[in-house]
Amino acid sequence: MALKSLVLFPLLFLVLLVLEWVPSTLGKETSAHKFQRQHMDSNGSSRVSPTYCNEMMRRRNMTTRHCKQVNTFVHESLVDVQAVCTQENVMCKNGQTNCYQSTSNLHITECRLTRGSKYPNCAYKTTQKERHIIVACEGNPYVPVHFDASVEEST
Ligand SMILES: *[C@@H]1O[C@H](CO)[C@@H](O)[C@H](O)[C@H]1NC(C)=O
Ligand SMILES: *[C@@H]1O[C@H](CO)[C@@H](O)[C@H](O)[C@H]1NC(C)=O
Repeated sequence: MALKSLVLFPLLFLVLLVLEWVPSTLGKETSAHKFQRQHMDSNGSSRVSPTYCNEMMRRRNMTTRHCKQVNTFVHESLVDVQAVCTQENVMCKNGQTNCYQSTSNLHITECRLTRGSKYPNCAYKTTQKERHIIVACEGNPYVPVHFDASVEEST
C-alpha cells in the first residue's frame, strides 16, 4: 500500500501537469501573435475609410466581450515593425525597460471608442497619423508583444 501510493502520487502529479500544459500550449495565442492581431494591418497604408475602426476592431476580436477603449493599427510590414525592437531603447509607461521607439515615422490608424458608444454596439473614431511608435519587446526571437504609445517626435 505504502509502496503503491509512492508510485501513484508522482504519476498522478505528472498527469495533472500534462493536463494543465496541453490546453495552454495548444489553445492560447502567444503574446507575439496577439500583438499582430491587435496592431498589425500591413494593408491599407495610404487611406482608410471612416468606418475602418468599426470594422477592424470587430474583425480582430476586440469587441467580443466589451469594447476595447483605444487601439492602434500599424500599416507597415511586419519586418519593419519587428525591427523597432532593435531601435531606440526607452522606458515603458509602466516603468519597465524593454520598450523601443521607432527611429522613423510609421503610418498608423488610431481607433478611439466614441463617447456614448455602448457594448455590443462599439463605435469608433478613426484617425490616421504618422508617428514614432513605442512597443515593448520580449522573447527569443525578440519581437513586439505590446503597443505602448505613439509619439510625434523623438523624445
Ligand atoms: C492584403 O491585401 C492583399 C491584396 O489585396 C490580400 O490578398 C490579403 O489577403 C490582405 N491581407 C490582409 C491581412 O487583409
Ligand atoms: C476571432 O475569434 C473567433 C472565435 O473565437 C476566431 O475563430 C477567429 O479566428 C478570431 N479572429 C482573429 C482575427 O483572431
